[in-house]
Amino acid sequence: MAVNLLLGLQWGDEGKGKIVDVLTGDYDIIARFQGGPNAGHTLIFDGYKHVLHTIPSGIFHKTAINVVGNGVVIDPVIFKNELDNLGQFNIDFKSKLLISRKAHLILPTHRLLDSASEKAKGKEKIGSTLKGIGPTYMDKTGRNGLRVGDLEMNDWQERYEKLTKKHLKMIEFYGVELNFDLKELQDNFEKGIERLKQLTFIDSEEYLNNAMKNGETVLAEGAQGSLLDVDFGTYPFVTSSTTTAAGACTGLGVAPNKIGEVFGIFKAYTTRVGSGPFPTELFDEDGERMAKVGHEFGATTGRPRRCGWLDIVALKYAVQVNGVTQLMMMKGDVLSGFDTLKVCTSYNYNGNEISHFPYNIEPENVTPIYSKFKGWSEDLTAMTSADELPQNLLDYIAFIEKEVNVPIKIVSVGPDRKQTILR
Ligand code: GDP
Ligand code: IMO
Ligand code: MG
Repeated sequence: MAVNLLLGLQWGDEGKGKIVDVLTGDYDIIARFQGGPNAGHTLIFDGYKHVLHTIPSGIFHKTAINVVGNGVVIDPVIFKNELDNLGQFNIDFKSKLLISRKAHLILPTHRLLDSASEKAKGKEKIGSTLKGIGPTYMDKTGRNGLRVGDLEMNDWQERYEKLTKKHLKMIEFYGVELNFDLKELQDNFEKGIERLKQLTFIDSEEYLNNAMKNGETVLAEGAQGSLLDVDFGTYPFVTSSTTTAAGACTGLGVAPNKIGEVFGIFKAYTTRVGSGPFPTELFDEDGERMAKVGHEFGATTGRPRRCGWLDIVALKYAVQVNGVTQLMMMKGDVLSGFDTLKVCTSYNYNGNEISHFPYNIEPENVTPIYSKFKGWSEDLTAMTSADELPQNLLDYIAFIEKEVNVPIKIVSVGPDRKQTILR
């Protein structure tokens, strides 16, 4: 059995949580492989709305096992809150939510370091979610990090104190003002650790490979998006993990030849939260309309998301880097009522027209070149089958498929689990 992947192809918030929830019925195991509580994955069903940060989006299904893989970074405080918020569902977390011993832990001082780093950068800041993601991955690759499995070791406390002390010195080095109560942060951290220890820790690479040998099906759930990938994203305005397909191999311990379908998910337009270049960004009424109708506010930080037209140059790039085999288009309903739609099909790059995603997409180098489409006025949100979709939307879809050369198999027409059209 292969592992199928579901990944965001833009700057995150494409609707990964919703689609993983929709697809979970087809899988035995849902596994997160990278990122941490910088993610906010929204699920809406039966009148409930849930935002998950670390817990995989298969958690609401009775049968699926959810795995937090080695590539994920866990903040025990946020994790405890997530578990507490799901109290009403009577989920047996001990048997349904399994945690890799090799996943790294976000310490309270990692979060402080994130804030200090951003403050020190001033106008150049990344616009981080301030969840301590960068500093935690830095400690991982710097070989100083603490892992879930360390909680079972005798020298845990000693190692925790040593790393915390080092972080406090580093915070001083930044020379910025930070107000914090370390005692309070540590008390909360300890409560989080106690809760985490009540879950089941596993060697997730062993678990997943055995499950596959036994014929079980696995869906790997990406976080963030391809344009936030530490290598292929708009560096340095990226996150600190491999958000692209290769991250599923390193973040779960599954070999490349075990990867099956790669589902690539994108919005019918584009959004970005935080700093960094965004060629098709709109600063006019069209952008405001997308933000308003699409309720474009970050699920983790509540910050307004920047909005713009669909960028096919970037989409092709993401499809290539990930080896996407099927596309899913989200939020087509938000574009209902625009007379004209635009999609960017090439860039003017320092005076030359190019159709690949270059090293640098800063506005001084790149201006988007657009194709125009007739919009549709129909409300899509109650539609349930592909036959009902308006012709102008079908033309829009056909154009994207032709440009990208991958079929769009799901069209999402609203945030609810049910508002999902299969093609
Ligand atoms: P994720 O991080 O990729 O899981 O996406 P988020 O949950 O951060 O952001 C997606 C937002 O769009 C959430 O508020 C979803 O409820 C919402 N959403 C998902 N699909 C659709 C859709 O097809 N139409 C509309 N209008 N909203 C959607
Ligand atoms: P999901 O999984 C959208 C952005 C931040 C910032 C940059 C670095 O919900 O799609 P970090 O906290 O990782 O240091 O922030 O990445 N970012 C996201 N944007 N969706 C996300 O996750 C994101 N996770 C991080 O806004 O620009
Ligand atoms: Mg999100």
